Amino acid sequence: MILQSDWPTLLLHWFDANRRDLPWREVKPRNPYHVWVSEIMLQQTRTETVKGYFCRWIEQFPSLEALAQASEEQVLRAWQGLGYYSRARNLHKAARQVMMEYGGEMPQDARSLQRLPGIGAYTAGAIASMAFGQQVPAVDGNLLRVLARFYGVDQDIASTAGKKTLTGLAEAIIPEMRPGDFNEAMMDLGADVCSPKNPRCDQCPLKGQCRAFREKRTDQLPVKRPRAAQKEFAAACGLVARTGKFLLHKRPAKGMLASMWEFPMVLEKTKTEARQGLEELLQAGAGETVWEHKHVFTHQIWYMEAYILEGAKVPDGEYAFFSPDEWELIPLAGPHAKLATFLKKGIDSKKRV
Ligand code: ADE
Repeated sequence: MILQSDWPTLLLHWFDANRRDLPWREVKPRNPYHVWVSEIMLQQTRTETVKGYFCRWIEQFPSLEALAQASEEQVLRAWQGLGYYSRARNLHKAARQVMMEYGGEMPQDARSLQRLPGIGAYTAGAIASMAFGQQVPAVDGNLLRVLARFYGVDQDIASTAGKKTLTGLAEAIIPEMRPGDFNEAMMDLGADVCSPKNPRCDQCPLKGQCRAFREKRTDQLPVKRPRAAQKEFAAACGLVARTGKFLLHKRPAKGMLASMWEFPMVLEKTKTEARQGLEELLQAGAGETVWEHKHVFTHQIWYMEAYILEGAKVPDGEYAFFSPDEWELIPLAGPHAKLATFLKKGIDSKKRV
């Protein structure tokens, strides 16, 4: 018999009947490297998108050792399109560190895991519980939302204090048996039932004990402070062609989209300033707009336009010409990959004529 207060058991029963079939859940017992890769990919990317990337990644880098031996270019290339490339760089660096420091065996406790690049409290909790059966929570947005509703916590879940309260509650309740399943059950419940908007409380195994449900406050909980507004930029991109190749620039090794390739670009407040900046950079006049695109990042929005510049000069710095076939082999910054796809379509259709 299940006691009313033993809600993790109710949740695990629900999970046994309703768990999502996901590729990183297939290998039993769970492969720590698979758990790690999937958790890093899932940090800022939708589950549906991650499925394909995860399978291709495991095919290309089947083990931690294979990943450690790969080059940074190969790693970034395999990551291309997922965005937030520091995740890929850290994964690569950490794989090398595990080879050197731990003889290729991942550490099993959350504390040691957190010393590896790119592994924070959430990811460490997820790996330690799912791959190694450690009794630690994986505190992500799903868990915060579900617990804030279940216990009726009205602290801001984006605040340090709110996170601390809810982490404490999670630590107190996480079961000794099946802690990894408990964490994944919270994720699945958060994704499919206890969703941010219009939760499906009629389907919820916990509704009998949920405070927000009882008090009809599911639309008021969790409390979450709105994110700061994104900064907006006009982005002028230059198309400089020479014998079928286009000029690209390698971004600096630090900062946003680090070390990725892009078409020469100038970011400014207004379209006119950006275009002028690009003309100065390349010392040539820009033609009419041939491509437009709005690219939304977490903290910035780029209103991009591309122009052809005849007779441009190659600026000092990391610039080089690449053919459209070579674009496939280098890590292109996400929004510039969109421009590359657009250009390729035009070039391919001309070839067919
Ligand atoms: N999101 C983050 N980690 C996940 C996991 N292990 N399963 C499903 N969704 C997730």
